[in-house]
Amino acid sequence: MSVRVFAPAKINLTLEVGAPRADGYHPLQSAVVFASEGDWVEASPSDVLTLEITGPVANALPVDENNLVLRAARLLAPRRGAALRLQKNLPIASGIGGGSSDAAAALIALNQVWSLNKSRSDLSHLAASLGADVPVCVHQHSAWITGVGEVVAPISVPPLNAVLVNPGKPMPTPPVFRRFDELGLGANFAERQAPAWATPEAVVTDIAAWGNALETPAVALMPELGDLLAALRSDKRTLAAALSGSGATCFAVTNSAADARSLATDLSARNREWWVRPTKIANA
Ligand code: C5P
Repeated sequence: MSVRVFAPAKINLTLEVGAPRADGYHPLQSAVVFASEGDWVEASPSDVLTLEITGPVANALPVDENNLVLRAARLLAPRRGAALRLQKNLPIASGIGGGSSDAAAALIALNQVWSLNKSRSDLSHLAASLGADVPVCVHQHSAWITGVGEVVAPISVPPLNAVLVNPGKPMPTPPVFRRFDELGLGANFAERQAPAWATPEAVVTDIAAWGNALETPAVALMPELGDLLAALRSDKRTLAAALSGSGATCFAVTNSAADARSLATDLSARNREWWVRPTKIANA
């Protein structure tokens, strides 16, 4: 029996970050949602653990011991075999959790193939050692994440139309947090309650008001991101635009699917290097 699981892109609608703890990790709070764009992970029974990567972004991702999909499999059952296939559609190191969502999808698929009967909550706790974003990706549901990203509380977010835009260059996360620290940006972090958004307008207002604390260091490291965000924010179809995670993917929320499609078409024409996708955001 093969099991195929979707690994949706994760979007940080908002991301507030505090000064680093003693272990170097940063306290944060973020409204995380999942998009209709994503990768696919398929697991089939096999005596040995193997991974094959296909899809448009396959060449950018080596199959080695560091691959999060293989690490997820070893974490779940250190000595069991499975044939894993990853269809890689999302750009690498791009702030939309591709690797984290792939690892989470691998845990979900292998839990079934190996008949382990672990709950999503069990898998989510296990997932924390793979990366701060993996637990929320196991739930694949809109959430307010706190702690250093590992405390996941489900929230309800009204359906949204959006465009994802990546400038076509990877942005490793640790240097963004390092620049954040150098700029001393964590000082004003204040905990807030999880949002209770009833309308898209309420979401848009808070995206603009709370923002993404990593935008300043990310733009410092990749100045063209500032131009990309300015272009998104000045477009009349955009209700709110921000960076997701540590970048470099940005998103623009639009009023309608038609606006998302036409904005995506215009952005693609503007720069052929950009990875641009209209998408839908829904609770689950
Ligand atoms: O946990 P993950 O591997 O996704 O994190 C990547 C890097 O991001 C960490 O090595 C750390 O430098 C930084 N990070 C952080 N604080 C967080 C999450 C990540 O400093 N809450």
